Amino acid sequence: MSLALHRHGPWAVVIGAAQGIGAEFCRRLAAHRFNLVMVALEDGELRGLAGGLEREHRVETRTVSGDITDPAVLARLEELTEPLEVGLLVYNAGFAVLGEWLDVPLERHLHTVDVNVRGPMRLIARFAPAMVSRGRGGVILLGSLSGVQGSPLLATYAATKAFTAILAESLWAEWRPHGVDLTAVVPGATDTPGYRSSAPRTGRAPMPAGEVVSAALHALGRRPWVVPGRTNKISGLLFRLLPRRLAVRIMDRILRGMYGPAVE
Ligand SMILES: NC(=O)c1ccc[n+]([C@@H]2O[C@H](COP(=O)([O-])OP(=O)(O)OC[C@H]3O[C@@H](n4cnc5c(N)ncnc54)[C@H](OP(=O)(O)O)[C@@H]3O)[C@@H](O)[C@H]2O)c1
Repeated sequence: MSLALHRHGPWAVVIGAAQGIGAEFCRRLAAHRFNLVMVALEDGELRGLAGGLEREHRVETRTVSGDITDPAVLARLEELTEPLEVGLLVYNAGFAVLGEWLDVPLERHLHTVDVNVRGPMRLIARFAPAMVSRGRGGVILLGSLSGVQGSPLLATYAATKAFTAILAESLWAEWRPHGVDLTAVVPGATDTPGYRSSAPRTGRAPMPAGEVVSAALHALGRRPWVVPGRTNKISGLLFRLLPRRLAVRIMDRILRGMYGPAVE
């Protein structure tokens, strides 16, 4: 574990904190005595989780509920974090729409870009300058294996995750001399409410969210991105090495098998 409070603490901001991978980040960070600013769409589960972590780990928490793309929510977050020394940012919120690109309303594509691309850029711009001037801090971004090659039925989502991976690599190099760590964690299918609600048809068990978090925290300070799990690592590598048109055709088959019209 490369986490060290003196490098990344004392406060962590987790965007997308109430469920799935984000909730697991909160549990793990609280166990490492981080105080947490937790953001999620709805208030109920968020407050429940925050209260439980305060009691269990004797950390402080603050919560903000609402869509991180909403300027009023961003303003509340800014105000709340103003007096805090934020040493770690985890941008975990993500949005995806399944379907043929032309069948999805443009507004949904643009919202995907707002949550997955503009969101992390705004939050990085808010918190990274202080980290750079202090000479310590960390940022974790969420990529996806669907962003390693074209992913039909998930085109805009996959493109935003490709953006995330390249942004992470670039900022990793820019910030190395300043002592600020950055890692994109690039999961495959992970067992979360979000994944389950997409109702995939697949025999393969998704990875537990805790494994994604372990990989991310281990990679922070070591490398610009990490694919959690051996099988995911091998398939990610193969997809990067294959001729592009073959990689995309294989992904097309996989995704239509999981999400396309069911074949009787
Ligand atoms: N699960 C997978 O198979 C998988 C694979 C690859 C990459 N990823 C990436 O991993 C990240 C987390 O995925 P997940 O499956 O854990 O998601 P999830 O189960 O749907 O949970 C997402 C969390 O983020 C919050 N959230 C979502 N949109 C938000 C927004 N616009 N503003 C503020 N909070 C928001 C949700 O709030 P509420 O709880 O209030 O709804 C929830 O707490 C995403 O970036 C996703 O793209 C997931």
